[in-house]
Amino acid sequence: MSVVVTGATGQLGRLIVQHLLADGMPAEQITATGRRVERLTDLAEQGVRVVESDYTRPDSLVEAFTGADTLMLVSGSEVGQRTAQHRNAIDAAVTAGVRRIVYTSVLRADRSTLPVAPEHVETEAMLRESGLVITLLRNGWYSENYLGDLAQAAESGTIVAAAGDGRVASAARDDYAAAAAVVLRTEGHDGAVYELTGDQAWDFDQLATAASEVLGRPVTYQRVTLDERRAGLESAGVDAGTIGFLLTMDERVATGELAEVTGELSRLIGRPTTPLVDALRAARG
Ligand SMILES: NC(=O)c1ccc[n+]([C@@H]2O[C@H](COP(=O)([O-])OP(=O)(O)OC[C@H]3O[C@@H](n4cnc5c(N)ncnc54)[C@H](OP(=O)(O)O)[C@@H]3O)[C@@H](O)[C@H]2O)c1
Repeated sequence: MSVVVTGATGQLGRLIVQHLLADGMPAEQITATGRRVERLTDLAEQGVRVVESDYTRPDSLVEAFTGADTLMLVSGSEVGQRTAQHRNAIDAAVTAGVRRIVYTSVLRADRSTLPVAPEHVETEAMLRESGLVITLLRNGWYSENYLGDLAQAAESGTIVAAAGDGRVASAARDDYAAAAAVVLRTEGHDGAVYELTGDQAWDFDQLATAASEVLGRPVTYQRVTLDERRAGLESAGVDAGTIGFLLTMDERVATGELAEVTGELSRLIGRPTTPLVDALRAARG
């Protein structure tokens, strides 16, 4: 079995490669690809095949994917361009003779109202039409997404959000990577759709408590309205696109869209997901 991992120059893809190696997959059966391959020198030194590729250059994708049985397609990070980029990757997989694609989608993609969902829905549809064997890893939220709140709390002692009493069942990025590695190196996942979340849904008071523990100083959650949140972000000089995204996310958290606990992530990885406080502490180094 051989695997090619896209986005290996990024955080999740690198962790997936590291899990495959730690789980005993021979390095020569793994290809790590992305644009900034200078970041992958350490993996190349361990025997991993490293090939530069870009979702916008189909030839580079075919070259990277050739010889692999399975493509781990880590969704791209250029929001708005991802459907076309993923199309290129799926076409290249077909051309290269790949048998199976594992794709990192978003939790409950088919009914999600998150702003990132439409490109995942379109990619899932393209995958189904490809005729290849597919496995969908519908990832929930990363705990590391709250590192910005931690940085703010380190300065001010507060976490400001319009999330109300909403809860988030996040997991560590490394938990999702471990699950991907399980799906890549074991049998029985053809056609499967996994809805992956953390084991516990926390609210923003609990986020503040976790921040207190990590930072070693008191931190409180300051509930604000959406208008107050917008005004605060504007006065901090945050750009309009980011403000729109953050407000939408606060709103979705408040309405419970990220609160679902499925248990499928801990079942896949065979252990509980990483508690919020541990994920934040590890991410802050
Ligand atoms: N569930 C969540 O909470 C959450 C949060 C953030 C992101 N995500 C999604 O999960 C993915 C992985 O997360 P991450 O934390 O690993 O993100 P990341 O560190 O930003 O990595 C993104 C990866 O995408 C690659 N990429 C972007 N554009 C590309 C292109 N045109 N051609 C080839 N490669 C390209 C990057 O390659 P280079 O670095 O070589 O350019 C990088 O390896 C993200 O891309 C995003 O779709 C999920």
